[in-house]
Amino acid sequence: MSASRTTVAPAEGKLGILIPGIGAVATTFVAGVELVKRGMGQPVGSLTQMATIRLGKRTENRSPYIRDFVPLAGLNDLVFGGWDIYEDNAYQAATNARVLEQHQLDAVREPLQALRPMKAVFEQQYVKRINGPNVKKGANKRELAEMLMDDIKSFKEKNGCARLAMIWCGSTEVHRKATAVHQSLAALEDGLAKSDVDIAPSQIYAYAALKSGVPFANGAPNLTNDIPALLDLARERHVPVCGKDFKTGQTFMKTLLAPGFKARMLGVSGWFSTNILGNRDGEVLEDPDSFKTKEETKLSVLDQILQPQLYPHLYKDLYHSVKINYYPPRGDAKEGWDNIDIFGWLNYPMQIKIDFLCRDSILAAPIVLDLVLFLDLAARAGQRGIQEWLSFYFKGPMTAPGLYPEHDIFIQLMKLKNRLRHMMGEELITHLGLEYYD
Ligand SMILES: NC(=O)c1ccc[n+]([C@@H]2O[C@H](COP(=O)([O-])OP(=O)(O)OC[C@H]3O[C@@H](n4cnc5c(N)ncnc54)[C@H](O)[C@@H]3O)[C@@H](O)[C@H]2O)c1
Repeated sequence: MSASRTTVAPAEGKLGILIPGIGAVATTFVAGVELVKRGMGQPVGSLTQMATIRLGKRTENRSPYIRDFVPLAGLNDLVFGGWDIYEDNAYQAATNARVLEQHQLDAVREPLQALRPMKAVFEQQYVKRINGPNVKKGANKRELAEMLMDDIKSFKEKNGCARLAMIWCGSTEVHRKATAVHQSLAALEDGLAKSDVDIAPSQIYAYAALKSGVPFANGAPNLTNDIPALLDLARERHVPVCGKDFKTGQTFMKTLLAPGFKARMLGVSGWFSTNILGNRDGEVLEDPDSFKTKEETKLSVLDQILQPQLYPHLYKDLYHSVKINYYPPRGDAKEGWDNIDIFGWLNYPMQIKIDFLCRDSILAAPIVLDLVLFLDLAARAGQRGIQEWLSFYFKGPMTAPGLYPEHDIFIQLMKLKNRLRHMMGEELITHLGLEYYD
């Protein structure tokens, strides 16, 4: 039976993408979109641009592109803006990041130079390894939030945007647990006025976005919008949100492999992961407090997928370790090693070694694109609060309180596509179709 179709407002007019953190990921994303728009590159890795979706029965042979099936904003309708603690425009920042080749950056120099970061809301104690001059000054955190809301409003007006979406591509902040100030909107607003030390800069951006009715995605592992106060605000304002921490290199590999081991009932006794990384993200993550934030999202993945409580013999003794080492010569071209100790029939041990020579920002850029387009779609479809169907893109997917996150990438993909089918009134696909027996 097909579901009734959700009313989705058309994607008319310009969509403004606001990005706190104009670093490697953000500039690779913006430069990539500009290159694709000019026919000078392919949006590889992006579901919204490249993937199809099967509809109806297998015999119907209906597999349109996702972009033709749901009304998404087109690349030509995107406008970019953002904030950073450095004054470099996106062309300079992309040149420093050394992700894309200079001749490609030169081909889109003009739009990149036009992206000049607005003054950031920043506190050194939240990101210890960096400091920059392009920072707002205000009497308290509420005033800083109001300045961000003014930025959002004037960006929208100046660029004639019909809608906006914000995505945090800023540095990973130090590890913080939610405290009393995060538990309700009233407490958070009171805390902003009193400049409560527990309110992180990323939370001030998220607050400003949601207050302005702008959907918000969190690409870093910081707590940011994953607190009752901001989730209440998102529901109250009817704004969709999602997070956290883009699922790229090593964790992407884990969520590919671990479901396979479990599907075949193979045991795992150890998973040792280490990385060398030489970009600014690597430098920030060398600070133990920032790494602690990252470590939490990286470690939780295996436990949820393998379910040691259901399969104690196979996974209860799994030793899992994740390390990141800052190694400048590598730049953005990270190397991730995994040694996986598995066991099979009669507990016989085996080993798997992975050496993934990946490029962090190349893997992250299409995720940024998909997230902003899907969040904008969700907003036009009237969806609010946490968008669990976007878990596919995150290392630490946000969930409703009390629910465990789904990490298995294949279940996540099914969830994402079924959400799109549901939105458009198509049958959900359960893979329970007719089978033939001889
Ligand atoms: N594959 C990936 O690259 C990947 C995967 C998952 C998560 N992430 C996360 O995405 C984020 C961006 O990664 P990146 O490689 O682009 O890092 P980057 O260091 O190149 O860029 C981050 C930028 O954020 C700026 N910044 C820091 N605090 C800010 C603030 N309060 N306001 C405005 N700007 C601020 C920094 O000055 C810097 O320019 C990091 O948190 C990283 O952990 C990246």
